[in-house]
Amino acid sequence: MILQDKTILVFGATGQQGGSVANALRANGWPVRALVRDTKSEKAVALAEQGIELVQGDFSDTASLQAAIEGVYGVFSVQPSSGQGAYGVTDEQEGQYGKTIADLAVVNGVQHLVYSSTVATGPTKTGMGHFDIKSEIEEYIRGLDITHTIVRPSTFMEILALPGMGLDKGQISFFMHPDQSAQFIAVEDIGKIVAAIFAAPEKYANHTLDISSDAVSGAEIAEKFTRAAGRPINYQRFPDALLETNPFLKALTKVVDEGRLTGNADIPTLRQQIPGLLTMDQWLEGTGKTALLAAIEAGGDEVALR
Ligand SMILES: NC(=O)c1ccc[n+]([C@@H]2O[C@H](COP(=O)([O-])OP(=O)(O)OC[C@H]3O[C@@H](n4cnc5c(N)ncnc54)[C@H](OP(=O)(O)O)[C@@H]3O)[C@@H](O)[C@H]2O)c1
Repeated sequence: MILQDKTILVFGATGQQGGSVANALRANGWPVRALVRDTKSEKAVALAEQGIELVQGDFSDTASLQAAIEGVYGVFSVQPSSGQGAYGVTDEQEGQYGKTIADLAVVNGVQHLVYSSTVATGPTKTGMGHFDIKSEIEEYIRGLDITHTIVRPSTFMEILALPGMGLDKGQISFFMHPDQSAQFIAVEDIGKIVAAIFAAPEKYANHTLDISSDAVSGAEIAEKFTRAAGRPINYQRFPDALLETNPFLKALTKVVDEGRLTGNADIPTLRQQIPGLLTMDQWLEGTGKTALLAAIEAGGDEVALR
């Protein structure tokens, strides 16, 4: 395939998903343009050093989105959510940003829009705004006249190795019961999958694809993290006492108990179609191990999730 004139615009390229996608697209020879808020930030400069074209802009500035999207072949769209305290974005803003980008993609004749949603979305509401707004964006995109692919990543493996998860105390707590399995995705696999989707539009056109790298139970996480850390790490489900003090975690746990967050990806088929997807053990041999050891070193008392 000749890619020289097929630029892909990547949103969130200084973040986890966009960074993974930008990286994988560059590795596969695609010209990449990234909309960044600050072209001088360390992460933006690192993108430019990879040969990625930077365009300064902001989701809230539609003119900047229009300038960035002009002339591109494809768009990777992802937005921060209210589930991440850091950006102060509301569910309404997430919805507005996701829909505006989709509208601009249509108006500008973009040939392939890939939107990253999340595992918990679907026709019925979860009661959690940052999931339900993604269902709304998905539906909106399906109603537009544009070739699109919607990916629904499961929980990132990276979340398990955040400082403040108790790893320094030999403990990891998460949503599942110890014998309950859930799917996880290594962030670097999101890029591999999205690059494969852009490379085969006829195969993935107008598909919605649940994506995951591996499925593991709480007890298996303990076993794998113990091996990778070289010291015992026990697994427990978030204790009830903690859930009572943290309404966000409590609501998320309810979604897990309803089976909406444990993942629906057909992992064997994904592995067949996209080579190199990581098992949790493989992730723990690479970037996962680095993150795990750093989290143990950093310590911290607070639960990292909110
Ligand atoms: N965590 C999980 O397990 C999981 C699983 C599935 C889906 N998700 C979803 O993933 C999404 C977050 O993706 P992520 O983890 O890749 O995000 P992330 O690492 O936090 O990165 C967010 C990116 O968005 C950019 N950004 C923030 N505000 C912006 C604005 N106003 N205008 C333009 N760019 C802006 C940031 O740029 P700066 O460098 O300028 O800050 C950064 O590049 C959320 O919607 C979440 O619900 C998460």
